[in-house]
Amino acid sequence: MEMRGITKRFPGVMALDEVDFELEKGEVHVILGENGAGKSTLIKMLSGAYQPDEGEILLDDEPVSISSATVAQELGISTIYQEFNLVPQLTTAENIFLGRQPRRFGLVNRRKMGEEARRILERMKVRVDANALVSNLGIPQRQMVEIAKALSLDARILVMDEPTASLSGQEVERLFEIIRGLKEEEVSMIFISHHLEEVAEIGDRVTVLRDGKVVDRVPASTNRSEFVRMMVGRPIEDQFPRQQPETGEVLLEVNNLSQKGILEDASFQVRAGEVVGMAGIVGAGRTELARAIFGVDPVDSGEVWVEGRRMKLGNPREAKRRGMGFVTEDRQGQGIVPPLSVEENLSLASLGLNTSVGLVNRREQRKRARKMIEDLNIRTPSPEQEIRYLSGGNQQKVVIGKWLLANSRVLIMDEPTRGIDVGAKVEIYELMNELTKNGAGILMISSDLPEVLGMSDRILVMSEGRITGELSVDGATQENVMELATQGSEAAVE
Ligand SMILES: Nc1ncnc2c1ncn2[C@@H]1O[C@H](COP(=O)(O)OP(=O)(O)OP(=O)(O)O)[C@@H](O)[C@H]1O
Ligand SMILES: [Mg+2]
Repeated sequence: MEMRGITKRFPGVMALDEVDFELEKGEVHVILGENGAGKSTLIKMLSGAYQPDEGEILLDDEPVSISSATVAQELGISTIYQEFNLVPQLTTAENIFLGRQPRRFGLVNRRKMGEEARRILERMKVRVDANALVSNLGIPQRQMVEIAKALSLDARILVMDEPTASLSGQEVERLFEIIRGLKEEEVSMIFISHHLEEVAEIGDRVTVLRDGKVVDRVPASTNRSEFVRMMVGRPIEDQFPRQQPETGEVLLEVNNLSQKGILEDASFQVRAGEVVGMAGIVGAGRTELARAIFGVDPVDSGEVWVEGRRMKLGNPREAKRRGMGFVTEDRQGQGIVPPLSVEENLSLASLGLNTSVGLVNRREQRKRARKMIEDLNIRTPSPEQEIRYLSGGNQQKVVIGKWLLANSRVLIMDEPTRGIDVGAKVEIYELMNELTKNGAGILMISSDLPEVLGMSDRILVMSEGRITGELSVDGATQENVMELATQGSEAAVE
């Protein structure tokens, strides 16, 4: 497959500027670039979601016009999108075969569909119930369903836009095994990721994009700092700039939080000035714990104390009033309000909040939102742009910025840097430093082990709904974190 001189403009944005790209048979071609560089826009030309303004696409040296998703499918191109395309009200199996269910006498053959779905999930060695409603699945499981859906098409070209963003170590390895298998069958793949360590492991060649232009095309064995320089335009000296301030009083105390089948006796504390990391494999119950603390989900028993006062559970508004903030992992579902502007989304968590300077007025609010756009380098043509038009990583930055603006004293961050580029990650870490220096405490849930080790002052590890251990950051290694993370567990996606 070859793309020649692809140009794509959106109002106020030159998303792609004469991009050339090629894909050989059986190759894994990685696309790297900062948030907003144009990666997703480029691959959407292949899936039929967008048409190029200029340029052409050739398959087997023949120009093709990929005018719709159906055409893409007929040409043997299958895409795993960055933003999920699942229908929550349908089951896993129904989603995998959406729009092309196996039929018999004009009726959907449900039994056959279920069997087929199970076969694919088994091949992926993933434990997701084919009959489960997608609305009941967690984000990583949904990612696996997306992958299953793409695989079920038996495509010649498989396009994956950040497929590993919401997976942890073992699931990533499983996906890589699948990719290696497909390579042997001469399937060609495009792979987009912000995890640079994955590039050398799975890629053959790399095309780097910056501001909609190709910077260079290099072998996947190119070293990391060189990739960073090409993407960001400057070297990054310190990937994890954690400066631990002195710790103060206990801000958050969680005692024996339990919820049948989900959480068992979770107890821990977060002090002022601390970043407490929380590691674990997918399905360990970390997000569930965060949701229980913030009051989104109910609990059977247990207590949460904030700044020495017991908090009523099951009431997120109360949690917010008490100075808690929650950066959710599900930015599409809970993090953003798509039709509102970037500026409005940034202001959502702090509207009407009492701060030390009194009620924040609108003018002040706008000023602060604009400063956050600058601080986090949020790529948007203007603060008034509807957030849904921003690239995935830039939407994520807004979700984080919104809570940073709310001046939360206790901040729970669930996978804060998922989908965020290498440069912006460091900006977020710097802001975490600033917050903790000013007396906030942060609970950082992360599946990115180097991040947990690099940015936490203490590390809690969860497995199967329990906190299985606590490590000081000096004593912690990837190995002993993983050991605690897989304790009493079969380490499977459930
Ligand atoms: N439908 C749209 N309308 C307006 N602007 C858009 C639209 N889609 C993309 N853009 C803009 O085009 C640029 C490229 O976006 P794209 O989604 O391709 O980035 P990306 O490289 O995939 O970034 P990320 O790593 O954050 O996913 C961004 O500035 C984005 O805001
Ligand atoms: Mg993208």
